[in-house]
Amino acid sequence: MPLDSFFHYHSNELFCEGLSLSELAQEYGTPLFVTSRSSILHQYHRFENAFKALNHLTCYSVKANFNLSIIKTLMAEGSGFDVNSGGELYRALTTGASPEKIIMAGVGKTAEEIEYAINSSLLMIKAESHSELKVINDIAGRLNKTVRVGVRINPNVMAETHPYITTGNSEEKFGIDEVLSEETFSLIKTLKNIRLVGLDMHIGSQIFDTVPYYEATLKLLGVKNIAEGMGFKIEHIDIGGGFPITYHDGKEATSVEDFAKKLVPILKNANAQIIFEPGRFIVGNSTVLLSKVLYRKENYKHKLFLILDSAITELIRPSLYQAHHDIYAVKKTGQQIVADIVGPVCETGDFFARKRELDNCQEGDYLAVLSSGAYGAVMSSNYNARRRAAEVLVNDTEVQLIRRRDTYEQMVQNEI
Ligand code: LLP
Repeated sequence: MPLDSFFHYHSNELFCEGLSLSELAQEYGTPLFVTSRSSILHQYHRFENAFKALNHLTCYSVKANFNLSIIKTLMAEGSGFDVNSGGELYRALTTGASPEKIIMAGVGKTAEEIEYAINSSLLMIKAESHSELKVINDIAGRLNKTVRVGVRINPNVMAETHPYITTGNSEEKFGIDEVLSEETFSLIKTLKNIRLVGLDMHIGSQIFDTVPYYEATLKLLGVKNIAEGMGFKIEHIDIGGGFPITYHDGKEATSVEDFAKKLVPILKNANAQIIFEPGRFIVGNSTVLLSKVLYRKENYKHKLFLILDSAITELIRPSLYQAHHDIYAVKKTGQQIVADIVGPVCETGDFFARKRELDNCQEGDYLAVLSSGAYGAVMSSNYNARRRAAEVLVNDTEVQLIRRRDTYEQMVQNEI
């Protein structure tokens, strides 16, 4: 990502807002996720502004980063929340988010999760199969409730992104095929404890091309016509998330304003509230993973490795999706090296970058892996019995610890 007012060099030292990353590393230790609060607010308001012509609700997709302080920060700005599990629902509710602004997705919700969602009176629970619709109806019946349901439609479009994060075509497990929608609505007519209020899609993540998004939205609006022709009143059209960010300085992502330009004209007269579920766009560029260089190692072929104290356990994206993350030395030296930047875990796939050019750095120096705010900490693991990293939130020259580093004692507590 390009450096900006949130992450920038000042006298050759990398800063997050008004604080030096070296000082944060010394104070809190590494690996450390450092998040700029202003960056999150900036992105949230940029998104709101892009779609301001629409009657809409932005439901931040909690899966991108479910830290309670981040949820709270967005809640204070008026954001709603998209949750994908009982655990995410608990996180949203426990921060005080209003259930009328929470929507729940998930291709495999358990009965326990469905009951939790129904009892929480959410804005909408989204069903992804005929079987799930029946289960929701049965549970709602047992609880003597009518539940507001949305149907996730699989519009069968191909969004060009990494194959692991494309979700809107008929080869994938998500949603109910668009071509089955009449059948779906006929089924819903027989389910007395379900009130169909919304239609939903999510075609993938980090989508660069506005065209498949546009085509899928048109299809969703077509399905709305079918539903209304069958007597339903569709109150919400949820077009999902997937808005991209720039990971690679110089390879600019399509802007959210460009998406808005394409989508607003067809959504303006939809006669329904439009729901968005951005995750990455809001938090992706807000955070760096601060790491220490433990060792420099040069092999006999003069290949240089920088071995960090961070690993795939903190950020699996480079390994899992071949994702590029810019990496900067916290102290700029002006001399360049080329190195493989790797972690300490016993996996060859434990790397952040291969053959990467960056400022020369020595053992004990710090590196910042940029754009680690979305699908970083939330996808972390305790593999190799490593402690999950601490997280801090920076607000100008103030810093707040928002997640303590795991301890060895706490990590064995659930075992018998
Ligand atoms: N809504 C639904 C139903 C989703 O499944 C997702 C993401 C989102 C919204 C938010 O998408 P976003 O705006 O963040 O693109 N771990 C992968 C990304 C997986 C995305 C899963 N679903 C990565 O690191 O790229």
